[in-house]
Amino acid sequence: MAQIVGGVFTSHVPAIGGAIARGLQEDSYWKPFFDGFHPIHRWLAAARPDVVVLFYNDHGLNFFLDKMPTFAVGAASRYQNADEGWGLPVMKPFPGAEALSWHIIEHLVASEFDITMCQQMTVDHALTVPLALAWPGENNRPVKIVPIAINTVQHPLPSPKRCLALGRAVYEALSAWPGEERIAIFGTGGLSHQLDGERAGFINKDYDRFCLDNLGPNPEALTEHSALDIIELAGSQGIEIINWIAARGALGPVAHEISRNYHIPISNTAAATLLLETGEALSKVA
Ligand code: DHB
Ligand code: FE
Repeated sequence: MAQIVGGVFTSHVPAIGGAIARGLQEDSYWKPFFDGFHPIHRWLAAARPDVVVLFYNDHGLNFFLDKMPTFAVGAASRYQNADEGWGLPVMKPFPGAEALSWHIIEHLVASEFDITMCQQMTVDHALTVPLALAWPGENNRPVKIVPIAINTVQHPLPSPKRCLALGRAVYEALSAWPGEERIAIFGTGGLSHQLDGERAGFINKDYDRFCLDNLGPNPEALTEHSALDIIELAGSQGIEIINWIAARGALGPVAHEISRNYHIPISNTAAATLLLETGEALSKVA
């Protein structure tokens, strides 16, 4: 039976990809952020996931404002990256866990989630940066992926409550998957940040701490705010926390904190990483 080993939650600021490309991990600006990945590297080496189910948002590379699915699930055997204009090296294609994607899609639609299924899907910095952080070195990434994109861009946005329910339905699908894979869940984006407008540069440490404290033990607490409340609290891009909320749902009922890191700022963002381990994994990953 497949096993959900745990969840990696991280900001996905494109400049992090630039720092990786230039080898700046020990630079004084970057070190406090990159140091947060040391425990995650140790944990991944022990947990040995084969598949990553990754909740993120597309920023205009694959979906643009003219066609914006609320929830989109990849069903491809490979996913291309492309130049978004951030000056990042284009990464080689990521292999997809295609059969597992279709199993998740079947389960979500049967559970009345009207998702968009994507047999072709380019993946942007919100997927490539977290995977590069988790497994440094492009030839060194031992996982296949299932990308799940949530609309955080074009209003109306899905509610945090609906995102948690989506994640929980993905958990049910994974629990019913007959394969032997070890599955890690990733949630990317956040924490508080706003890139433009009058509140550009806005950060809310109190709200970020509330998210980090509650995501593992009490994810419902994060669903008490509406999407618009979160934009008020965390900035217009801070709404990317809904990717974390969905990913938390996919971990199942129990998620114990293994490590966290919070550092302000990376670019315009309150940058955070959080590692949660599932109840199923506790006795097996050490
Ligand atoms: C930044 C943060 C993001 O989440 C993003 O998608 C792009 C840029 C930033 O802080 O620069
Ligand atoms: Fe983003």
